[in-house]
Amino acid sequence: MDIDTSSLFTPIVINGHTVKNRLSVAPMTRVTATQDGRATEKMTRYYERFARGRFGAVTTEGIYTDQAFAQGYANQPGMTDEAQANAWKPVVSGIRAHGALAIAQIMHAGAISQGNRFRTTTLGPSAIQPKGEQMGFYHGNGRYAVPTAMTEEQIAEAIAGFAGSAARAIGIAGFDAIEIHGANGYLLDQFLTDYTNHRADRWGGGTENRARLIFETFKAVRAKVGARVPVGVRLSQGKVNDYHHKWADAERDAEIVFGSLADAGADFIHVTEFEAWKPAFAAGGPSLMHLAKRYAPKAVIFANGSLHNIEQAVAALDDGADIIAIARGALANPDLPKRIGAQRTLNDFDPVILGPIANVKESELAM
Ligand SMILES: Cc1cc2nc3c(=O)[nH]c(=O)nc-3n(C[C@H](O)[C@H](O)[C@H](O)COP(=O)(O)O)c2cc1C
Repeated sequence: MDIDTSSLFTPIVINGHTVKNRLSVAPMTRVTATQDGRATEKMTRYYERFARGRFGAVTTEGIYTDQAFAQGYANQPGMTDEAQANAWKPVVSGIRAHGALAIAQIMHAGAISQGNRFRTTTLGPSAIQPKGEQMGFYHGNGRYAVPTAMTEEQIAEAIAGFAGSAARAIGIAGFDAIEIHGANGYLLDQFLTDYTNHRADRWGGGTENRARLIFETFKAVRAKVGARVPVGVRLSQGKVNDYHHKWADAERDAEIVFGSLADAGADFIHVTEFEAWKPAFAAGGPSLMHLAKRYAPKAVIFANGSLHNIEQAVAALDDGADIIAIARGALANPDLPKRIGAQRTLNDFDPVILGPIANVKESELAM
Protein backbone atom coordinates (compact mmCIF):
# COMPACT_ATOMS: atom_id res chain seq x y z
CA MET A 1 0.00 0.00 0.00
CA ASP A 2 1.59 3.22 -1.09
CA ILE A 3 -1.22 5.68 -0.51
CA ASP A 4 -1.40 8.58 1.93
CA THR A 5 -4.21 7.47 4.24
CA SER A 6 -3.78 10.19 6.87
CA SER A 7 -7.08 11.86 5.89
CA LEU A 8 -8.87 8.69 7.03
CA PHE A 9 -7.51 9.17 10.53
CA THR A 10 -8.61 12.74 11.28
CA PRO A 11 -11.40 13.05 13.85
CA ILE A 12 -14.76 14.57 12.97
CA VAL A 13 -17.62 15.83 15.15
CA ILE A 14 -21.26 14.83 14.62
CA ASN A 15 -23.57 17.02 16.67
CA GLY A 16 -21.15 17.31 19.58
CA HIS A 17 -19.93 13.69 19.43
CA THR A 18 -16.36 13.17 18.28
CA VAL A 19 -15.67 10.27 15.94
CA LYS A 20 -11.99 9.45 16.17
CA ASN A 21 -11.48 8.56 12.50
CA ARG A 22 -13.36 8.36 9.20
CA LEU A 23 -13.88 4.59 9.13
CA SER A 24 -17.19 3.10 10.19
CA VAL A 25 -18.81 -0.30 10.03
CA ALA A 26 -21.86 -0.26 7.74
CA PRO A 27 -25.10 -1.85 8.99
CA MET A 28 -25.31 -5.62 8.41
CA THR A 29 -28.22 -7.86 9.31
CA ARG A 30 -26.88 -11.08 10.79
CA VAL A 31 -30.05 -12.74 12.22
CA THR A 32 -28.24 -13.75 15.43
CA ALA A 33 -30.75 -12.46 18.00
CA THR A 34 -33.06 -14.69 20.05
CA GLN A 35 -36.37 -15.70 18.51
CA ASP A 36 -38.03 -12.93 20.54
CA GLY A 37 -35.66 -10.27 19.23
CA ARG A 38 -33.14 -9.82 22.03
CA ALA A 39 -29.48 -9.16 21.20
CA THR A 40 -27.18 -12.01 22.28
CA GLU A 41 -23.77 -12.49 23.84
CA LYS A 42 -22.46 -13.61 20.45
CA MET A 43 -23.57 -10.28 18.98
CA THR A 44 -21.68 -8.46 21.75
CA ARG A 45 -18.48 -10.25 20.77
CA TYR A 46 -19.16 -9.68 17.06
CA TYR A 47 -19.67 -5.91 17.41
CA GLU A 48 -16.90 -5.38 19.96
CA ARG A 49 -14.37 -6.84 17.54
CA PHE A 50 -14.90 -3.98 15.08
CA ALA A 51 -14.41 -1.36 17.81
CA ARG A 52 -11.29 -3.13 19.01
CA GLY A 53 -10.09 -3.07 15.40
CA ARG A 54 -10.30 0.76 15.70
CA PHE A 55 -13.34 1.60 13.64
CA GLY A 56 -14.39 5.12 14.65
CA ALA A 57 -18.09 4.26 14.47
CA VAL A 58 -20.07 1.04 14.45
CA THR A 59 -23.60 0.99 13.05
CA THR A 60 -25.75 -1.97 14.02
CA GLU A 61 -27.80 -4.11 11.74
CA GLY A 62 -31.34 -2.92 11.03
CA ILE A 63 -33.35 -3.20 14.28
CA TYR A 64 -37.13 -3.60 14.01
CA THR A 65 -39.23 -0.90 15.56
CA ASP A 66 -42.67 -2.20 16.54
CA GLN A 67 -44.65 -5.28 17.46
CA ALA A 68 -46.89 -4.92 14.42
CA PHE A 69 -45.52 -4.99 10.86
CA ALA A 70 -41.91 -3.78 11.20
CA GLN A 71 -40.00 -7.05 11.66
CA GLY A 72 -38.37 -8.31 8.46
CA TYR A 73 -36.52 -11.46 9.42
CA ALA A 74 -36.58 -14.34 11.88
CA ASN A 75 -33.93 -13.79 14.57
CA GLN A 76 -33.66 -10.10 13.73
CA PRO A 77 -33.13 -7.99 16.88
CA GLY A 78 -35.78 -5.46 17.93
CA MET A 79 -36.03 -2.32 20.09
CA THR A 80 -39.74 -2.54 20.76
CA ASP A 81 -39.82 -2.96 24.54
CA GLU A 82 -37.67 -2.72 27.63
CA ALA A 83 -36.45 -6.33 27.46
CA GLN A 84 -35.14 -5.87 23.91
CA ALA A 85 -33.61 -2.49 24.76
CA ASN A 86 -31.88 -3.92 27.85
CA ALA A 87 -30.40 -6.75 25.77
CA TRP A 88 -28.51 -4.17 23.70
CA LYS A 89 -26.69 -2.73 26.76
CA PRO A 90 -23.70 -5.14 26.64
CA VAL A 91 -23.38 -4.64 22.88
CA VAL A 92 -23.25 -0.88 23.30
CA SER A 93 -20.76 -1.18 26.20
CA GLY A 94 -18.52 -3.37 24.06
CA ILE A 95 -18.51 -0.85 21.23
CA ARG A 96 -17.96 2.15 23.49
CA ALA A 97 -15.26 0.45 25.56
CA HIS A 98 -12.92 0.92 22.61
CA GLY A 99 -13.90 4.53 21.94
CA ALA A 100 -16.14 3.94 18.93
CA LEU A 101 -19.44 5.75 18.36
CA ALA A 102 -22.37 3.33 18.72
CA ILE A 103 -25.10 3.98 16.15
CA ALA A 104 -28.40 2.07 16.20
CA GLN A 105 -29.98 1.54 12.79
CA ILE A 106 -33.77 1.34 13.11
CA MET A 107 -35.90 -0.11 10.33
CA HIS A 108 -39.36 -1.16 9.22
CA ALA A 109 -39.33 -3.86 6.54
CA GLY A 110 -42.75 -3.03 5.09
CA ALA A 111 -43.66 -5.05 2.01
CA ILE A 112 -40.41 -7.00 1.93
CA SER A 113 -40.81 -8.49 5.39
CA GLN A 114 -40.14 -12.22 5.09
CA GLY A 115 -40.33 -13.25 8.75
CA ASN A 116 -42.40 -11.53 11.42
CA ARG A 117 -43.49 -13.28 14.59
CA PHE A 118 -46.22 -10.68 15.23
CA ARG A 119 -48.04 -10.81 11.87
CA THR A 120 -48.61 -13.20 8.96
CA THR A 121 -49.30 -10.46 6.40
CA THR A 122 -47.31 -7.42 5.22
CA LEU A 123 -47.99 -3.72 4.73
CA GLY A 124 -46.70 -1.26 2.14
CA PRO A 125 -47.60 2.05 0.56
CA SER A 126 -49.70 0.30 -2.11
CA ALA A 127 -50.89 -3.26 -2.75
CA ILE A 128 -48.13 -4.00 -5.26
CA GLN A 129 -46.14 -7.22 -5.13
CA PRO A 130 -42.46 -6.44 -4.51
CA LYS A 131 -39.96 -7.29 -7.23
CA GLY A 132 -37.47 -10.08 -6.68
CA GLU A 133 -37.39 -13.02 -4.32
CA GLN A 134 -37.00 -13.44 -0.57
CA MET A 135 -33.47 -13.96 0.71
CA GLY A 136 -32.54 -17.55 1.47
CA PHE A 137 -29.72 -16.61 3.82
CA TYR A 138 -32.31 -14.90 6.01
CA HIS A 139 -34.56 -18.02 6.02
CA GLY A 140 -36.82 -16.87 3.15
CA ASN A 141 -37.85 -18.45 -0.12
CA GLY A 142 -40.10 -17.64 -3.08
CA ARG A 143 -41.78 -14.38 -4.00
CA TYR A 144 -42.70 -11.69 -1.49
CA ALA A 145 -46.36 -11.49 -0.49
CA VAL A 146 -48.60 -8.75 -1.89
CA PRO A 147 -48.81 -6.14 0.90
CA THR A 148 -51.93 -4.36 2.09
CA ALA A 149 -51.91 -0.61 1.43
CA MET A 150 -51.36 1.22 4.72
CA THR A 151 -54.11 3.27 6.36
CA GLU A 152 -53.40 6.64 8.00
CA GLU A 153 -53.54 4.88 11.38
CA GLN A 154 -51.01 2.27 10.28
CA ILE A 155 -48.68 5.00 8.98
CA ALA A 156 -48.97 6.80 12.32
CA GLU A 157 -48.24 3.52 14.13
CA ALA A 158 -45.12 2.94 12.00
CA ILE A 159 -43.82 6.46 12.72
CA ALA A 160 -44.51 6.02 16.43
CA GLY A 161 -42.60 2.73 16.32
CA PHE A 162 -39.50 4.48 14.96
CA ALA A 163 -39.77 7.26 17.55
CA GLY A 164 -40.33 4.95 20.51
CA SER A 165 -37.50 2.65 19.45
CA ALA A 166 -35.14 5.59 19.02
CA ALA A 167 -35.98 6.76 22.54
CA ARG A 168 -35.32 3.26 23.95
CA ALA A 169 -32.08 2.93 21.96
CA ILE A 170 -30.75 6.16 23.47
CA GLY A 171 -32.39 6.15 26.89
CA ILE A 172 -32.17 2.47 27.83
CA ALA A 173 -29.63 0.74 25.59
CA GLY A 174 -27.21 3.68 25.71
CA PHE A 175 -26.51 4.17 21.98
CA ASP A 176 -24.87 7.44 20.97
CA ALA A 177 -26.78 8.02 17.74
CA ILE A 178 -29.70 6.89 15.59
CA GLU A 179 -29.69 5.99 11.90
CA ILE A 180 -33.15 5.79 10.34
CA HIS A 181 -33.15 3.20 7.55
CA GLY A 182 -34.61 4.98 4.54
CA ALA A 183 -32.73 2.89 1.98
CA ASN A 184 -32.46 -0.46 0.25
CA GLY A 185 -36.12 -1.18 -0.47
CA TYR A 186 -37.53 -1.20 3.07
CA LEU A 187 -40.71 0.66 4.12
CA LEU A 188 -39.48 4.27 3.93
CA ASP A 189 -37.84 3.57 0.57
CA GLN A 190 -41.02 1.85 -0.66
CA PHE A 191 -42.82 5.16 -0.09
CA LEU A 192 -40.06 7.10 -1.88
CA THR A 193 -40.01 4.78 -4.88
CA ASP A 194 -42.32 5.68 -7.77
CA TYR A 195 -43.24 2.12 -8.77
CA THR A 196 -44.08 0.84 -5.26
CA ASN A 197 -46.05 3.94 -4.22
CA HIS A 198 -49.23 4.59 -6.23
CA ARG A 199 -51.01 6.46 -3.47
CA ALA A 200 -53.24 9.41 -4.32
CA ASP A 201 -53.09 11.01 -0.84
CA ARG A 202 -50.41 13.24 0.75
CA TRP A 203 -48.08 10.22 1.00
CA GLY A 204 -47.97 9.64 -2.77
CA GLY A 205 -47.57 11.50 -6.08
CA GLY A 206 -44.60 13.86 -6.48
CA THR A 207 -41.24 13.33 -4.84
CA GLU A 208 -42.05 15.71 -1.95
CA ASN A 209 -45.07 13.56 -1.10
CA ARG A 210 -43.32 10.23 -1.58
CA ALA A 211 -40.49 11.41 0.66
CA ARG A 212 -42.90 12.69 3.32
CA LEU A 213 -42.71 9.50 5.41
CA ILE A 214 -38.93 9.87 5.64
CA PHE A 215 -39.23 13.47 6.85
CA GLU A 216 -42.10 12.76 9.25
CA THR A 217 -40.20 9.82 10.71
CA PHE A 218 -37.11 11.97 11.11
CA LYS A 219 -39.11 14.70 12.87
CA ALA A 220 -40.81 12.21 15.21
CA VAL A 221 -37.47 10.64 16.13
CA ARG A 222 -35.89 14.05 16.71
CA ALA A 223 -38.80 15.10 18.91
CA LYS A 224 -38.31 12.00 21.09
CA VAL A 225 -34.53 11.99 21.42
CA GLY A 226 -33.92 15.74 21.56
CA ALA A 227 -31.57 18.12 19.81
CA ARG A 228 -28.33 16.75 21.26
CA VAL A 229 -28.53 13.21 19.90
CA PRO A 230 -27.03 12.68 16.45
CA VAL A 231 -29.82 11.53 14.13
CA GLY A 232 -29.31 10.63 10.50
CA VAL A 233 -30.96 8.84 7.60
CA ARG A 234 -29.65 6.19 5.22
CA LEU A 235 -30.68 6.56 1.57
CA SER A 236 -30.03 4.62 -1.60
CA GLN A 237 -31.24 4.14 -5.12
CA GLY A 238 -30.68 0.38 -5.36
CA LYS A 239 -32.65 -2.07 -3.25
CA VAL A 240 -32.12 -5.57 -1.91
CA ASN A 241 -34.83 -6.64 -4.37
CA ASP A 242 -33.90 -4.26 -7.24
CA TYR A 243 -30.19 -3.50 -7.48
CA HIS A 244 -30.32 -1.14 -10.43
CA HIS A 245 -33.15 1.24 -9.55
CA LYS A 246 -32.55 4.94 -10.23
CA TRP A 247 -34.51 7.84 -8.69
CA ALA A 248 -37.17 8.88 -11.22
CA ASP A 249 -36.26 12.59 -11.30
CA ALA A 250 -32.54 12.04 -10.93
CA GLU A 251 -30.69 15.06 -9.55
CA ARG A 252 -33.91 16.96 -8.88
CA ASP A 253 -34.91 14.13 -6.49
CA ALA A 254 -31.50 14.32 -4.84
CA GLU A 255 -32.01 18.04 -4.29
CA ILE A 256 -35.45 17.52 -2.74
CA VAL A 257 -34.51 14.59 -0.51
CA PHE A 258 -31.10 15.77 0.71
CA GLY A 259 -32.15 19.43 0.86
CA SER A 260 -35.27 18.71 2.90
CA LEU A 261 -33.37 16.48 5.31
CA ALA A 262 -30.82 19.27 5.76
CA ASP A 263 -33.66 21.73 6.43
CA ALA A 264 -35.17 19.32 8.95
CA GLY A 265 -31.84 19.22 10.82
CA ALA A 266 -30.39 15.81 9.93
CA ASP A 267 -26.97 15.52 11.58
CA PHE A 268 -25.82 12.95 9.07
CA ILE A 269 -26.89 11.39 5.80
CA HIS A 270 -25.66 7.94 4.83
CA VAL A 271 -25.70 7.26 1.10
CA THR A 272 -25.08 3.85 -0.36
CA GLU A 273 -24.46 2.81 -3.96
CA PHE A 274 -22.86 -0.35 -5.34
CA GLU A 275 -19.72 1.65 -6.15
CA ALA A 276 -19.90 4.92 -4.24
CA TRP A 277 -17.66 6.87 -6.62
CA LYS A 278 -19.68 6.19 -9.79
CA PRO A 279 -21.94 8.87 -11.31
CA ALA A 280 -25.33 8.63 -9.61
CA PHE A 281 -27.28 9.35 -12.79
CA ALA A 282 -25.94 10.28 -16.25
CA ALA A 283 -22.47 9.19 -17.31
CA GLY A 284 -19.86 11.72 -16.26
CA GLY A 285 -22.17 13.30 -13.65
CA PRO A 286 -21.66 13.62 -9.89
CA SER A 287 -21.74 10.73 -7.44
CA LEU A 288 -24.56 10.40 -4.90
CA MET A 289 -22.19 11.32 -2.05
CA HIS A 290 -21.21 14.48 -3.95
CA LEU A 291 -24.87 15.41 -4.37
CA ALA A 292 -25.58 14.72 -0.69
CA LYS A 293 -22.81 17.14 0.28
CA ARG A 294 -23.97 19.69 -2.29
CA TYR A 295 -27.57 19.78 -1.04
CA ALA A 296 -26.89 19.11 2.66
CA PRO A 297 -23.56 20.88 3.18
CA LYS A 298 -23.84 20.98 6.97
CA ALA A 299 -24.65 17.30 7.43
CA VAL A 300 -21.91 14.75 7.96
CA ILE A 301 -22.00 12.49 4.89
CA PHE A 302 -21.41 8.78 5.33
CA ALA A 303 -20.61 7.10 2.00
CA ASN A 304 -20.86 3.37 1.41
CA GLY A 305 -20.27 1.00 -1.49
CA SER A 306 -17.15 -0.99 -2.31
CA LEU A 307 -14.96 1.45 -0.39
CA HIS A 308 -12.79 -1.29 1.11
CA ASN A 309 -10.73 -0.26 -1.91
CA ILE A 310 -8.68 2.17 0.16
CA GLU A 311 -7.61 4.31 -2.77
CA GLN A 312 -11.29 4.90 -3.53
CA ALA A 313 -11.99 5.53 0.17
CA VAL A 314 -9.37 8.28 0.32
CA ALA A 315 -10.69 9.78 -2.93
CA ALA A 316 -14.27 9.69 -1.56
CA LEU A 317 -13.23 12.13 1.18
CA ASP A 318 -12.50 14.61 -1.61
CA ASP A 319 -15.80 13.91 -3.32
CA GLY A 320 -18.25 14.83 -0.56
CA ALA A 321 -17.87 11.97 1.91
CA ASP A 322 -16.90 12.70 5.51
CA ILE A 323 -17.02 9.15 6.82
CA ILE A 324 -16.49 5.91 4.90
CA ALA A 325 -18.86 3.06 5.79
CA ILE A 326 -17.61 -0.43 5.06
CA ALA A 327 -19.63 -3.66 5.16
CA ARG A 328 -18.09 -6.69 3.42
CA GLY A 329 -14.58 -5.32 3.91
CA ALA A 330 -15.23 -5.12 7.65
CA LEU A 331 -16.42 -8.75 7.78
CA ALA A 332 -13.17 -9.78 6.11
CA ASN A 333 -11.10 -7.34 8.19
CA PRO A 334 -12.68 -6.53 11.55
CA ASP A 335 -9.44 -4.68 12.30
CA LEU A 336 -9.43 -2.78 9.00
CA PRO A 337 -8.46 0.63 10.44
CA LYS A 338 -5.56 -0.96 12.35
CA ARG A 339 -4.42 -2.74 9.20
CA ILE A 340 -4.55 0.40 7.11
CA GLY A 341 -2.68 2.34 9.79
CA ALA A 342 0.03 -0.33 9.79
CA GLN A 343 0.04 -0.51 5.95
CA ARG A 344 -0.91 -4.17 6.08
CA THR A 345 -2.76 -5.80 3.19
CA LEU A 346 -6.49 -6.45 3.54
CA ASN A 347 -8.15 -9.85 3.35
CA ASP A 348 -10.60 -10.38 0.51
CA PHE A 349 -14.22 -10.89 1.53
CA ASP A 350 -15.30 -14.53 1.39
CA PRO A 351 -19.09 -14.89 0.95
CA VAL A 352 -18.89 -18.31 2.61
CA ILE A 353 -19.15 -16.39 5.93
CA LEU A 354 -22.76 -15.65 5.08
CA GLY A 355 -23.85 -19.17 4.15
CA PRO A 356 -26.06 -21.06 4.29
CA ILE A 357 -27.65 -18.66 6.82
CA ALA A 358 -26.18 -15.19 7.44
CA ASN A 359 -25.91 -15.64 11.22
CA VAL A 360 -22.65 -14.86 13.03
CA LYS A 361 -20.39 -17.94 13.11
CA GLU A 362 -17.95 -18.83 15.90
CA SER A 363 -15.32 -19.45 13.20
CA GLU A 364 -15.71 -15.85 12.11
CA LEU A 365 -15.27 -14.56 15.67
CA ALA A 366 -12.06 -16.57 16.00
CA MET A 367 -10.52 -14.67 13.07
C1 LIG B 1 -24.72 -9.54 5.28
C2 LIG B 1 -25.15 -8.14 4.96
C3 LIG B 1 -26.21 -7.61 5.68
C4 LIG B 1 -26.65 -6.30 5.43
N1 LIG B 1 -27.64 -5.76 6.21
C5 LIG B 1 -27.94 -4.43 6.12
C6 LIG B 1 -28.79 -3.79 7.06
O1 LIG B 1 -29.28 -4.38 8.04
N2 LIG B 1 -29.04 -2.47 6.89
C7 LIG B 1 -28.51 -1.76 5.85
O2 LIG B 1 -28.77 -0.56 5.73
N3 LIG B 1 -27.67 -2.35 4.95
C8 LIG B 1 -27.36 -3.65 5.08
N4 LIG B 1 -26.44 -4.22 4.21
C9 LIG B 1 -25.83 -3.40 3.16
C10 LIG B 1 -24.48 -2.89 3.59
O3 LIG B 1 -24.59 -1.96 4.66
C11 LIG B 1 -23.75 -2.21 2.42
O4 LIG B 1 -24.57 -1.20 1.92
C12 LIG B 1 -23.38 -3.14 1.27
O5 LIG B 1 -22.82 -4.36 1.74
C13 LIG B 1 -22.36 -2.47 0.35
O6 LIG B 1 -21.22 -2.06 1.09
P1 LIG B 1 -19.80 -2.81 0.95
O7 LIG B 1 -19.40 -2.68 -0.49
O8 LIG B 1 -18.88 -2.11 1.89
O9 LIG B 1 -20.04 -4.25 1.32
C14 LIG B 1 -26.02 -5.54 4.42
C15 LIG B 1 -24.95 -6.10 3.70
C16 LIG B 1 -24.51 -7.36 3.96
C17 LIG B 1 -23.34 -7.92 3.20
